[in-house]
Amino acid sequence: MKVLGINASPRGDASNTGKLVEAVLEGAGDAGADVEFVDLCALDIDYCDACGACYATGECPHIDDMVDMLDRIAGADGIVLGSPNYINSVTAQMKTFFDRLADGIHCQLLTGKYGCSVCTAGGSHADEVTTYMNETLFLMGATIVGGLGELMMGQPDVPDDTVAEAKHLGGILGQAIRTKMKDPEQDVAHEAMREHFRQLVTSRKDEWAHDYEHWSSMGWL
Ligand SMILES: Cc1cc2nc3c(=O)[nH]c(=O)nc-3n(C[C@H](O)[C@H](O)[C@H](O)COP(=O)(O)O)c2cc1C
Repeated sequence: MKVLGINASPRGDASNTGKLVEAVLEGAGDAGADVEFVDLCALDIDYCDACGACYATGECPHIDDMVDMLDRIAGADGIVLGSPNYINSVTAQMKTFFDRLADGIHCQLLTGKYGCSVCTAGGSHADEVTTYMNETLFLMGATIVGGLGELMMGQPDVPDDTVAEAKHLGGILGQAIRTKMKDPEQDVAHEAMREHFRQLVTSRKDEWAHDYEHWSSMGWL
């Protein structure tokens, strides 16, 4: 079992959000997962141009670090997202990463995988940003196991009890992966979402040949 942690703060080792992502990974590691931390801001990921090539061919014209990230995501059973609150949302780097995953939403890339998110904020909206990241994981088909938002309120470092909470969250993630945890409420919502994309992909099948072939090869049509 593999868990990928992705931090989107540009502050590198100084990032408090990164410390929470690391703590989640530590908890998942203790639960038996192989873990990997990715500093998203150290990667070269271009903006989505909305050309639609990914829907049509499965390929993006931008040959950059997203190619490798897609491989890492494919090989992971669990994904941990971390972003500081930048103007009541994720950082631009995380949003750019999300936009490049638009085809991952059409193709329900995270089906059968589990996820959670963490955020730190100067003074507000840490929970809202956490929820937004979890909603994005959910949109790609992942089952969400929890989230953690911390308001820093002038503290230089995330407090130990929050780090412990993040580690606990990692344990829950590891356990969910190991037991293939079912969440009936999320399963119902996933099925409704999948019906929406089934109709969308079918109605655009000539234009979005890759998406239609993917749905067909998965036996979802
Ligand atoms: C460009 C920018 C925008 C920010 N916007 C907000 C904001 O809207 N609300 C807030 O509470 N904190 C805001 N902050 C503060 C960060 O969310 C906070 O310092 C966070 O803990 C940084 O996380 P990091 O240590 O992982 O980089 C902002 C910081 C920056 C640099």
